[in-house]
Amino acid sequence: MNIDSMTATAEQLVAPGKGILAADESTPTMAKRLAAVGVTSTESVRRGYREILFSTPGLGEHISGVILFDETMRQQASDGTPLPELLRQQGVIPGIKVDGGTKLLAGFPDEVVTEGLDGLRSRLEEYASLGARFAKWRAVIRIKDGVPSATCLEANAHALARYAALAQEAGLTPIVEPEVLMDGAHDLDECASVTLAALRAVYDQLARHRVVLEATLLKPNMVLPGQDHPSPVSDDEIAQRTVAVARQAVPAAVPGLVFLSGGQSDEQATSRLSALNRLAPQPWELSFSFGRALQAPVLRAWAGDDANAAAAHAALQHRARLNGAARRGAYRPEMEDERDG
Ligand code: 13P
Repeated sequence: MNIDSMTATAEQLVAPGKGILAADESTPTMAKRLAAVGVTSTESVRRGYREILFSTPGLGEHISGVILFDETMRQQASDGTPLPELLRQQGVIPGIKVDGGTKLLAGFPDEVVTEGLDGLRSRLEEYASLGARFAKWRAVIRIKDGVPSATCLEANAHALARYAALAQEAGLTPIVEPEVLMDGAHDLDECASVTLAALRAVYDQLARHRVVLEATLLKPNMVLPGQDHPSPVSDDEIAQRTVAVARQAVPAAVPGLVFLSGGQSDEQATSRLSALNRLAPQPWELSFSFGRALQAPVLRAWAGDDANAAAAHAALQHRARLNGAARRGAYRPEMEDERDG
């Protein structure tokens, strides 16, 4: 393990003006995303779509890294270039999702734990040999009556720490993702207290497992009211609550927080990221690792037809540029209408 190079990777991933494109949808999740734009998911369709994403001109200007799914890591562009190599040519760092998804936590109805630790050491070695420089593992925490339980938080934090230690052993920078879902009608206070408990459990376990925090990134949820909660909350309040929670639980040794979008609209995710960055300086970079909030407009523009590649590229360039502005706290809603500026 070379801590210096893993730390350098973490720092490059949260370089000023840049963030991560999460394109690591599992095959079933990708089938849902494609179905939403009327496209049937096949291996060659998924390959073609991801080639369009990764061949976007100037991708590396605002995108520092891309998280891939296992299948994509092994696929090639139409000219035979391996897709991770296509990213490197764009100045973008390839990373890999290594968790095996969630399963019901036995004895705890309504709660899940992420699987995938068995055999992980050898999978991480293989991913490193295929060119991955960082990894991601996602834990999922729901808010409901009496949920999450302390046991669920502990089981997920333990798995995240085992993963992170194994990733560092293999020389891959671990992204640690404890996602508190926005499903439900809970309020901002409840999201704040659950997020705080989840983060405390995670950093307790990371310490016990001797994970070197400088060579990690945190991928958290923003502190938001549940999506069925009736009263709106301003972006500034969301940013303040999110930073307040992080300051209670995330050590300053962590180079950056790369927020997930989690079902927020593209504009909301960007606008709230900008509000977060207006609260700088903080101990960590405040960046993004968006899946849906970067890809939704690209999928709509492409809609399964490669003749729409230029429109798909323009859609990704546009969102990447606006999130790049948000990294400086400089996003304005009017920028949504400025194309290719
Ligand atoms: P969203 O930004 O769509 O939540 O996806 C990010 C991600 O990688 C979730 O694991």
